[in-house]
Amino acid sequence: MATAEAKQNNGVLPGEGVLPAPDDKHRYVREMFDAIAPTYDRLNSVLSGPLHHYWRRVATAQAALKPGNRALDVCTGTGDFALELAKVVGETGHIDATDFSAPMLQIGEQKARNKNRANTAWAIADTQELPFADNGFDAVTVGFGIRNVSDVPRGIREMARVAKPGGRVVILEFGQPTNKTFDRVYRWYSKHVMPRIGGLVSGRKSAYEYLPESVAAFYTREQIAAFMREAGLSNVSVTNLTFGTVVIHCGTKSAPDVLQNEVLESEATS
Ligand SMILES: C[S@@+](CC[C@H](N)C(=O)[O-])C[C@H]1O[C@@H](n2cnc3c(N)ncnc32)[C@H](O)[C@@H]1O
Repeated sequence: MATAEAKQNNGVLPGEGVLPAPDDKHRYVREMFDAIAPTYDRLNSVLSGPLHHYWRRVATAQAALKPGNRALDVCTGTGDFALELAKVVGETGHIDATDFSAPMLQIGEQKARNKNRANTAWAIADTQELPFADNGFDAVTVGFGIRNVSDVPRGIREMARVAKPGGRVVILEFGQPTNKTFDRVYRWYSKHVMPRIGGLVSGRKSAYEYLPESVAAFYTREQIAAFMREAGLSNVSVTNLTFGTVVIHCGTKSAPDVLQNEVLESEATS
């Protein structure tokens, strides 16, 4: 069974490359996102084209929200996932969006204003200590954020705590490609191309070295699924997108007496 001390994935370990030591990760990550906030959206589009919007749309569908629902997007950054959720819940629904980086959050809030998304609220908060009561949200989501949280199982427990029984927790994150040929191409791209372009556009090459290194050092799909079940989520499904470079975990908050431990794995076509 995976625990908070579970051995992390192959490849780079904290303390090697640009990855911070575990007790410095919180400060390092916040400072890095504060610095790259102005170019974050542009680089997402340069490095992954329209795919990053497609990945969030698939994850949004898994949240299974309806008009009028209330949802929370943590590690929301510049808010693209929160704004996608806001479209689904409509004017009668509400989305809370939280992040610990004020410069990232300010960009999200400005985008919501530009798009007239009055059904959103933006607040500074640490995902490991969410300022919300238990059982309040129909869905709780995170996009490309959980990998950056210092204590990942704790972040997942917090997401599960604030979800309603029967509500969904959706984790969208980068993963190791499942196709061997694609894996070789992707490793080359992320080692040689991504840091160069990222450095040129953001002026902070190390942030785009941190990205592939943190993905390589991240927990496996099975470990994340185990953390979700340990947090009280059931029917945990794993969906691989774009040859497994992106993974969606989705679980449902159990009523207190229900515990189902099955993991359903599926592969999307793009
Ligand atoms: C790669 S960005 C993802 C932003 C957005 N969710 C998206 O889909 O583009 C990761 C975000 O997680 C935030 N973050 C990392 N650790 C956090 C924590 N412990 N609490 C709150 N936010 C955190 C960072 O500030 C950053 O904005």
